[in-house]
Amino acid sequence: MSITSSEPAPTPPSGTAVVLDGRAVAARVQQAVAARANEFAARHGRRPGLAVVQVGQDPASSVYVRNKRKASLEVGIESFAHDLPAATGEAQLLDLVKRLNRDERVDGILVQLPLGKGVDTNRVMDSIDPAKDVDGFHPVNTGLLAQKRPRLRPCTPFGVIRLASEYGMALRGMRATVVGASNIVGRPMALELLLAGATVTVCHTGTRDLRAEVERAELLVAAVGKAGFIPGEWIRPGAAVFDVGINRTASGKLVGDVDYDRAAQRAGWITPVPGGLGPMTIAMLLSNAVDAAFHRAAAAG
Ligand code: GUN
Repeated sequence: MSITSSEPAPTPPSGTAVVLDGRAVAARVQQAVAARANEFAARHGRRPGLAVVQVGQDPASSVYVRNKRKASLEVGIESFAHDLPAATGEAQLLDLVKRLNRDERVDGILVQLPLGKGVDTNRVMDSIDPAKDVDGFHPVNTGLLAQKRPRLRPCTPFGVIRLASEYGMALRGMRATVVGASNIVGRPMALELLLAGATVTVCHTGTRDLRAEVERAELLVAAVGKAGFIPGEWIRPGAAVFDVGINRTASGKLVGDVDYDRAAQRAGWITPVPGGLGPMTIAMLLSNAVDAAFHRAAAAG
């Protein structure tokens, strides 16, 4: 790993890549979150609370929401479930968020995306109290991250940084490339990597030579949402590969955005799918929920 700008690019470790075990690291993060949730309960006489809102029954969203609620309970966070019919209109959703903003038992509010047609997602997300925005998607939290003073940080990008740090990667000075520029992952990922001192490139549909950009990357984050979008041969030998994609193939298998088998023969580190950033995203959500609870309690005096 290059630590300063004068050092050469990383040399590949021998053999195949070190698999970055998101499940194991997420379990450690959750243990620490559980201890802090207990401390919060002992100090404030109630458990931290997380409201998870789902509109409709998109199958992928239902899996994510179920996992988030289950994990909340496992770490001692009170879970408030709000499952609304697919036909729920924007006004009703805004009304629910308003009530959750006022509810003192609720420290974190997560509205699962995507929302249905006819609902202005930005309007709904912007209505969440930034102090309860455990997704870190509110413009206030995005702005604070952009200004090097992060508060509540988007869970998947925060999970990438945490996983890298657990494996001792020195991100400062690294040439990092993010493929995908969504508000949920790509953009905040670029801000997180910049905050960590990496030299960051963001690729998107307008990128002229994606292969050349990927080949240069000492650290690659793939957040595209297309199975096998990045061929293994594009991976720089020794690179750290973080695959955010969770795609279901026709045969029902879960795969990432990177062609894993061939990439693992070239990379120095690589996240598996499943078992990489999925569990890390949930762990960082729970961590944000407990952070939000402590911050809100401190602000209330
Ligand atoms: N849909 C896909 N990923 C996410 C996420 O991290 N948060 C929310 N709220 N919705 C999502």
